[in-house]
Amino acid sequence: MINIAVLGYGTIGSGVVEVLRINGDSIFKRAGDEINVKYVLDLKEFPGDPIMDILVHDADIILDDPEVKIVVEVMGGVEPAYSFVKKALLNGKSVVTSNKELVAKHGAELLDLAKEKNLNFLFEASVGGGIPIIRPLNQSLTADEIVEITGILNGTTNYILSKMSEEDIDFETALKNAQALGYAERDPSADVDGHDACRKIAILSSLAYGMQVDFEDIYTEGISHITDIDIQYAKALKARIKLFASSIRDEDESVYAMVAPVMIRADHPLYSVNDVFNGIYVKGNVIGDVMFYGSGAGKLPTASAVVADVVDAAKHLNKNIWTIWSSKKLELISTDRVKH
Ligand code: HSE
Repeated sequence: MINIAVLGYGTIGSGVVEVLRINGDSIFKRAGDEINVKYVLDLKEFPGDPIMDILVHDADIILDDPEVKIVVEVMGGVEPAYSFVKKALLNGKSVVTSNKELVAKHGAELLDLAKEKNLNFLFEASVGGGIPIIRPLNQSLTADEIVEITGILNGTTNYILSKMSEEDIDFETALKNAQALGYAERDPSADVDGHDACRKIAILSSLAYGMQVDFEDIYTEGISHITDIDIQYAKALKARIKLFASSIRDEDESVYAMVAPVMIRADHPLYSVNDVFNGIYVKGNVIGDVMFYGSGAGKLPTASAVVADVVDAAKHLNKNIWTIWSSKKLELISTDRVKH
């Protein structure tokens, strides 16, 4: 039996517990052992919920328990997540996280620490919800030089833009619906102002180019200024408005990155990525074009990616499986030359 602990029992944390329950038998076979949730950390109480028996309020109970082999951090935000994750790794526990703020800011350092300790720091769910994209960039596409990543990386904004266009509902109503469906961040300005997509393209770029791409350096524009008039113009032009997150490497190895709304027509590969779905287009110098598509946010899709990482961590206890992300900073070129 492999004991794990889940830090945070919000949308994703409760999804993780649910996925482990629903698919316990197949997960057992794939992990080669039973995955047991020994603790859930949350500040709130959940009367009547089966996790009440294993609920703790003090992270040190988990982080100091040698029986816990894998810590799942799904709290979000940089602190206290960073301190907990660092302590978990220092205390010999692998870590799985969905936290893009944490990964974008401290990913290189935490990957190094995991490697030094012969553990794993895995974060498939930090980008694209349930879509496998981190592992492909680190495993399946490693024969290639990646020359472009362009994605719709935020489910909330894609849902809002789709509903404004398809159902003629206004921005505020669409945002409220996205929040009710569990897609939006606790502070939805992270979604609508483009910061969530910015962190995600920074993570993908850092992996693709093997160097630290700082999210603060990426030109970022959100969708809060998009009005019904813009939507009607797009329709008249037989186009759709999408929030794109892009990073492009030139032949001279300069990298450009940006997050901004764009208008695209039906011949663009991301035109049909609607609602909460994310789509990620990757171009390699050998493989050519590759597309990834799926649910970009929400409880169970994101929990699916988290639990898949737990299975991988369980299969590789005390064996670091990958790191291709140096902390050396990659200087971005001004983004005004990014073209679509
Ligand atoms: N708020 C995020 C989104 C959640 O809408 O994409 C998934 O990272």
